[in-house]
Amino acid sequence: MATEVIGDEAVFYSKAEKYWKDVPPTVDGMLGGYGSISNIDIHGSSKFLQRFLGDGSGKTGTQCALDCGAGIGRITKRLLLPLFKTVDMVDVTNEFLVKARSYLEEDGRRVDNYFCCGLQDFQPQPGRYDLIWIQWVIGHLTDEALVGFLRRCRAGLRPHGMVCIKDNVAHEGVVMDEVDSSVCRDLPALRHVIRQAGFSVVAEERQENFPEEIFQVQMLALR
Ligand SMILES: C[S@@+](CC[C@H](N)C(=O)[O-])C[C@H]1O[C@@H](n2cnc3c(N)ncnc32)[C@H](O)[C@@H]1O
Repeated sequence: MATEVIGDEAVFYSKAEKYWKDVPPTVDGMLGGYGSISNIDIHGSSKFLQRFLGDGSGKTGTQCALDCGAGIGRITKRLLLPLFKTVDMVDVTNEFLVKARSYLEEDGRRVDNYFCCGLQDFQPQPGRYDLIWIQWVIGHLTDEALVGFLRRCRAGLRPHGMVCIKDNVAHEGVVMDEVDSSVCRDLPALRHVIRQAGFSVVAEERQENFPEEIFQVQMLALR
């Protein structure tokens, strides 16, 4: 359980907010100095996601997506705007959302909403989203907050909508990072949280071709 390593919740959230305020609003900043893996990341996500999208029965629509912990919009720009008519972004760091307005260039006109809010407090509009993409941010939420957020995401989905989580997974247990104030859960802990939120995992895949020295990164599609 993440709860066991997090300690004081208010400190956990405020330390993370302070950490991200000092990070430059660049792709390299979003990826902790690993900007060079962005192409591989987007390519892997696109391959994982596209099998679910389309017009056939049971397929996920392409009207509107939500990018959670979106930062400057690295994923919105390269993954979501090319596949969805409109995108909303949510992030706790206002400086990143301000930067997104220029970083996204022309296509940024199709971003409907920039929500500046912690996911622990964010309430997606019910029934609005075909896809909710949550990447490299779940470690900033306590177990309880993550369950609550995922439940609200469920209510935010359109028919045949889907949530995708892409994040680091620990080899075993829950690992605390005191620098950015986040936790890294192992897969059993993450699956437990997902089940508690009432979701089933419909697809799961490891991101390949990432550097050896970083955590394993897993993609999970939830319905
Ligand atoms: C590692 S970056 C990832 C950004 C983006 N998902 C990407 O992959 O390019 C983490 C992002 O999460 C945001 N963040 C941190 N804590 C958050 C919270 N509690 N709620 C929402 N966003 C948060 C940070 O501001 C930062 O933009």
